[in-house]
Amino acid sequence: AIDISKLRAETGYITLDDGYGNTGSCKSAITYIDGDAGILRYRGIPIEDIAGRSSFVEAAWLVIFGKLPTVQDRNRFSDLLTENSMMNENMRKHFDGFPTAAPPMAILSAMINTLSAHEPAVWSAHDDESIERAAAVLLSKARTIAAAAYKSSIGEPIVYPRYDVKYVENFLHMMFSVPYREYKPSKTAVKALNLFLLLHADHEQNCSTSTVRMVASSQANMFASCSAGVCALWGPLHGGANVAVIEMLERIRESGMDVKEYVRKVKNREDGVKLMGFGHRVYRNFDPRSKILRAAAEDLLEEMHVTDPLLDLGRELADAALSDDYFIERKLYPNVDFYSGIILRAIGLPVDMFTVMFAIGRMPGWIANWKEIHDDPKGRIYRPRQVYIGPTDVQWKPRSER
Ligand code: ACO
Repeated sequence: AIDISKLRAETGYITLDDGYGNTGSCKSAITYIDGDAGILRYRGIPIEDIAGRSSFVEAAWLVIFGKLPTVQDRNRFSDLLTENSMMNENMRKHFDGFPTAAPPMAILSAMINTLSAHEPAVWSAHDDESIERAAAVLLSKARTIAAAAYKSSIGEPIVYPRYDVKYVENFLHMMFSVPYREYKPSKTAVKALNLFLLLHADHEQNCSTSTVRMVASSQANMFASCSAGVCALWGPLHGGANVAVIEMLERIRESGMDVKEYVRKVKNREDGVKLMGFGHRVYRNFDPRSKILRAAAEDLLEEMHVTDPLLDLGRELADAALSDDYFIERKLYPNVDFYSGIILRAIGLPVDMFTVMFAIGRMPGWIANWKEIHDDPKGRIYRPRQVYIGPTDVQWKPRSER
């Protein structure tokens, strides 16, 4: 690595790297990716091992605190999640102000920021114990807010969390229970959602995580920093891609178009279409999460005895692209978003909640990155430079002459 500060001091040069394609913004000990070999590790542990063995909550603790939790850690953190699952009653009033059909991502980002006003935990988040409490508050309430955002978007009453069920079960309860009818999720759905969430738990310096670090570098609090992450995640080139994939597959199915024809359109950039759920800045080989999710989607549909024509179409489309020179030359492979929507659909989650689910999954990574900045005594505020390309010598004119 080149020491840019030294280079700048010696030469006055500024590095310009479009989209930060080759710029390291920090040193981090959270997540390791080898994009050429298709390797992903949380705190040194291969994602395949975590995926087969951990729940989302265990993976979250690992990502945030750097080691696998002991039984005591697990129990303490579970208790913290349960104790903090309820939203402040005053926060519920904010939901009355959102219009029905408001996008749940808009509600989630606003309400996570609002947590800073309602939750004293965030203001004491300095030592390890208080940071653990604040992390539990955020993880737990983000899930409650997400379910409430959905209920609010469909005009149904908000459902309170339960104190006797685990993280994922509790989320599904708040999503699908209605007054006088308790929803009981199947073990298969719970397992699949745990897997979906933990596969999203961190992914080093992606757009939303870099945003969280940027905000955190000004010493903003954990909740404010993570609400910025939600906004960055929203776009279709990042977390919004899981929605875009399903919309793309539905469009192809409705039009009756052959998948090869769609691949041809993508190659020719007709109507600006891209193959959504394909390509990645870092993976120039397969994305290991997408491999796990493809297998999980197949198992889930079989276990639930449901067929989804979109899974067959997705498989066909992926196979057509993977054998096409355009995708081979550019090393474009399915990313995490390609199959994740199939899983969320099978569980019964509506499409406009897909990116919200990604946000809940990514929360541990955002918190861990916030903590890494917070714990670094030598941390410097993030402040990139620019190359100015506008005019430099323009005369001011009075209004009458403009
Ligand atoms: N479909 C068609 N062509 C593509 C795609 C795609 N999905 N992705 C990249 N390409 C092409 C580019 O047009 C470029 O072609 P060119 O060299 O002829 O100009 C070439 O492949 C290289 O792409 P990059 O510019 O290196 O891609 P970049 O790293 O800037 O962007 C991104 C990565 C945003 C993920 C991109 O691949 C994309 O838009 N994919 C679709 C959206 C998507 O799935 N996003 C989710 C990403 S994963 C996540 O956030 C969880």
